[in-house]
Amino acid sequence: MIIGKPLFTVEQIQTRVTELGNRISSDYEGKEVLAIGILKGAFMFYSDLVRAIGQRLTTDFIIAASYKDTTSTGKVNILYDITEKIEGKHVLLIEDIVDTGVSLNFHRERILRSNPASLKICAFLDKQEHRITYPPIDYIGFKIPDVFVVGYGLDYENQFRNLPYISIFKKKT
Ligand code: IMP
Ligand code: MG
Repeated sequence: MIIGKPLFTVEQIQTRVTELGNRISSDYEGKEVLAIGILKGAFMFYSDLVRAIGQRLTTDFIIAASYKDTTSTGKVNILYDITEKIEGKHVLLIEDIVDTGVSLNFHRERILRSNPASLKICAFLDKQEHRITYPPIDYIGFKIPDVFVVGYGLDYENQFRNLPYISIFKKKT
C-alpha cells in the first residue's frame, strides 16, 4: 500500500472550504439551514464546512455504509438515521465524494419524501467517470479523475481517514 503525495494539500482544502462556506452563507441568507452530514466519510469536511458557514444552523447526521473495497457495492445501509424533522426545513446534505451517484441519489430521494422546504447538496469531491445516476450537486469542492483517494475523512477499509489532506491510494500488488 502506498500513500502518495497530496492531491489536495491542507492549505488548498482550507481555501476551498472557506470559499464554499462563504457561498453557502450568502445563498442561505435569512434562512435557517439543517446541515445533514453523511458519515463516516464526510465528518472532517462537515466539521470544517459548518464552521465556515456564518448563520444559524441545525446539525444532523446519517451514518451509512456503501463501500466494501475500492469499488462501489451500489447498496446503502443506514446504520444511524436523521433525528431532526425534515419537513419545511432548508436541508443542506453534505457528502464526502460522489462516484457512481447511487448512494447520494438514495439519500436525496429519502429526504425529498419528507418534504423539505428545499434540498441542496454539497460534495467535497466529484468523481464523474463512473456516474450512473445524476443527482444535482449544488456545491462541489473539487472535481477529480478516476482515482481512489483517502484522507480528510475518506478511507480505505476504514483507515487513513485521519490524514489531514487528500492523497491518491494505490494497493500494493
Ligand atoms: P457512489 O454511490 O458510487 O457515488 O459512492 C459514494 C461513496 O463511496 C462515497 O460516499 C464514499 O464513501 C465512497 N467512495 C467513492 N469513491 C471513493 C474514493 O475514492 N475513496 C474513498 N471512498 C470513496
Ligand atoms: Mg460516503
